[in-house]
Amino acid sequence: MLRPQLKPEERIILALDFPEHEIAINWVEKLRSKIKTFKVGSILFLDSGSEGLKEFSNLSVEVFLDLKFHDIPSTVEITARQSVRFGANMFTIHTLGGFEMMKRTSEAVKEEAEKLSYPKPLVLGVTVLTSHDKKSLEKIGISTSTEDTVMNLAALAEKANIDGLVCSGVEVEALRKEFGDRFTLVVPGIRPGTANHDQKRVTTPEEAISAGADYLVIGRAITEADNPEEIVDEIVTSIS
Ligand code: C5P
Repeated sequence: MLRPQLKPEERIILALDFPEHEIAINWVEKLRSKIKTFKVGSILFLDSGSEGLKEFSNLSVEVFLDLKFHDIPSTVEITARQSVRFGANMFTIHTLGGFEMMKRTSEAVKEEAEKLSYPKPLVLGVTVLTSHDKKSLEKIGISTSTEDTVMNLAALAEKANIDGLVCSGVEVEALRKEFGDRFTLVVPGIRPGTANHDQKRVTTPEEAISAGADYLVIGRAITEADNPEEIVDEIVTSIS
């Protein structure tokens, strides 16, 4: 998998972390001239559902389905097939689900997309959540460093033929060094000088892109801004 060729404005993914479909649709309409990909996570999916996904696609935007599937291999395989059917352009699974789960998912997605003649969505493996740091990983029994944990999970994802990884900007350089252009790298925890909220391993848009990130997932830094359009323009300029 080679890295996608993207213009600066195509690198921003807006996280639609809203509890109501109508609010999310308003944001898509407001920003779709500036942003191409919109992320539907669990907060929105419980209201929007699969019908909502189709509505986003009908607005001619790309849909990133971020439900971070983490279950036994057969359950995730079938869920992945559903994700293809409902038109996701990219979706996430947890690499912590293990090799078998990731491999069955990547094979199923390819097969399902071919069967339906749909474009194959990117399967993205979440490595270590950006809200974790060394201390919080230790509390759940992971004593290797955050970077080593990310690198181990990435090696497993590579063997399982996963297209891309979700990681923090802090690990991008090491991942590029080890895996070159093999993965599409999607980076949340982006803070262009705004509050960190619950995120720990944060980077600015410029830091993440110059380290080798492909996409930046940005939520509150845009949606809580007084003038969201202006912030988007500033971010695009900073990574151009
Ligand atoms: O508002 P903020 O920019 O922190 O939003 C980040 C988004 O990225 C949220 O929707 C969150 O669920 C998602 N995400 C993350 N860390 C990951 C994977 C996804 O923050 N490792």
